[in-house]
Amino acid sequence: MNLLFATSELFPLIKTGGLGDVAHSLPNALAELGVDVRVVLPAFRPVIQELADFQILGWLTVSNGSEVRVLEATHPHFPFPIWLVDAQDYFDRAGNPYTDAHGRDWHDNPARFALLGEVAALLAMDALDIGWRADVAHANDWQTALMPAFLSQNPLRPRTIFTIHNLAYDCQYDLATFRRLKLPDHWWTVEIGEFYGRFSMLKTGLMLSDAIAAVSPRYAAEIRTQEYGYGYANILDSLAPKLSGILNGIDDRVWDPSTDPHLTAHYSVEGGIRRAKHANRTALMQGLGTPPELIGTSVPLIGSVGRLVHQKGIDLLLEAIPPLLETTDAQFVVIGAGETRLERRLLELCDTFPDRVFAHIGFSEPLAHLLEAGCSLFVMPSRYEPCGLNQMYSLRYGTPPVVRETGGLADTVIDANPHSMAREEANGFTFKEATAEALQAALRRAIEMYETPKQWMNLVKNGMREDHSWRRSAEQYLRLYQAE
Ligand code: ADP
Ligand code: GLC
Repeated sequence: MNLLFATSELFPLIKTGGLGDVAHSLPNALAELGVDVRVVLPAFRPVIQELADFQILGWLTVSNGSEVRVLEATHPHFPFPIWLVDAQDYFDRAGNPYTDAHGRDWHDNPARFALLGEVAALLAMDALDIGWRADVAHANDWQTALMPAFLSQNPLRPRTIFTIHNLAYDCQYDLATFRRLKLPDHWWTVEIGEFYGRFSMLKTGLMLSDAIAAVSPRYAAEIRTQEYGYGYANILDSLAPKLSGILNGIDDRVWDPSTDPHLTAHYSVEGGIRRAKHANRTALMQGLGTPPELIGTSVPLIGSVGRLVHQKGIDLLLEAIPPLLETTDAQFVVIGAGETRLERRLLELCDTFPDRVFAHIGFSEPLAHLLEAGCSLFVMPSRYEPCGLNQMYSLRYGTPPVVRETGGLADTVIDANPHSMAREEANGFTFKEATAEALQAALRRAIEMYETPKQWMNLVKNGMREDHSWRRSAEQYLRLYQAE
């Protein structure tokens, strides 16, 4: 089976969040199952800078008249070729794939990602005549949503799959832009892409794909409700026969506490947990520039890594920290970047509690790994979470997650209570309401159990023993690819 996997992020070349991780691991897991994969993404500047050898596959002309070069590259992380859509005016820019230096969407995102979708569709059909044609074309989120849409016009097309990683992000534009892009006229209809008077790339992809997967079963159900549907609830409800939920996995080679090159000390469920965690905690705190006298040893260290945005409920955490510090001796550490007001509030807390709250504002892969390994608890109070990867990294790193019961968090974290502890199923702590109070209560329960070492170690090991590797999810995707 030939699979063209289209994405706008690919770890370790370019990543702003979980999509980059998924685009790295899922195609790899599928390749191990015998699928012949090509991953296609834009030749963003950091991607080009990272890759060494290119081969020119050819040139393609798209509907708006632009000529685009297609490159093939290899990279040690991938046993298959990577294809790059090399349109310099569109993708050869400094910084973030979606936004400029001020965090504003690039003004020409409609054109950039329409082009990506169209070129990916042409490549799936072997428009370059290189003798490789896709049986399945897999799109991810709005950025590649137009690939299945362009393919839908071709009777000899491959089967098309659309994965929803996050329904809250889309690229929508007015009729004038739609016309300028020369997209097929009939896409501006309520049956396809018209959405409240604008054109929605996301909706177009959903409507014109053969099958849709959300990144967790719980999220697949949630997005059919008004609360989580971002305006698409009714549409998704009507598409229910082709909608399923497939839980993401984690790359257990990149995220393995027994080999992780970012860690100071390695460990596994077989042993060495306490000692190694202690050493990694020290390394993490040193990495954050913490003076030695402030590096805690036995008090619980509660960590969080992620985009500092409303979705992640980081404001709930920032609100819960001061009252928790009054009555517990915990320390907190947050690594993240995002909305200015949240970054500012986090830094204020660091100033107010210099011996209790620590932060790194920015994106740091090494510190994120050390945090997973060095913390006692990991916290994700997300308002919604399509899947979430960090809670699974935390489970593997023996760092019980404290999460809000939503999306993939609800599908992976089992709350510690007497019943689940007795059945050796508990692996973390969950709470329901998206409030600072509910989060506080869950953190208090977690801290209390942390102080009972034997119980705590049982909880830690339950999580570490679980298998969250991609194999199972890849098999589910394979079945989806093969379904009629
Ligand atoms: P999302 O895709 O919504 O951001 P996920 O939990 O699926 O959330 O994935 C986030 C990924 O991005 C994880 O691999 C996480 O470690 C990483 N990440 C997010 N923010 C940072 C940061 N500031 N530094 C390092 N890694 C980060
Ligand atoms: C999105 C979601 C996140 C998910 C990731 C990968 O960014 O916010 O929950 O884990 O995609 O699918």
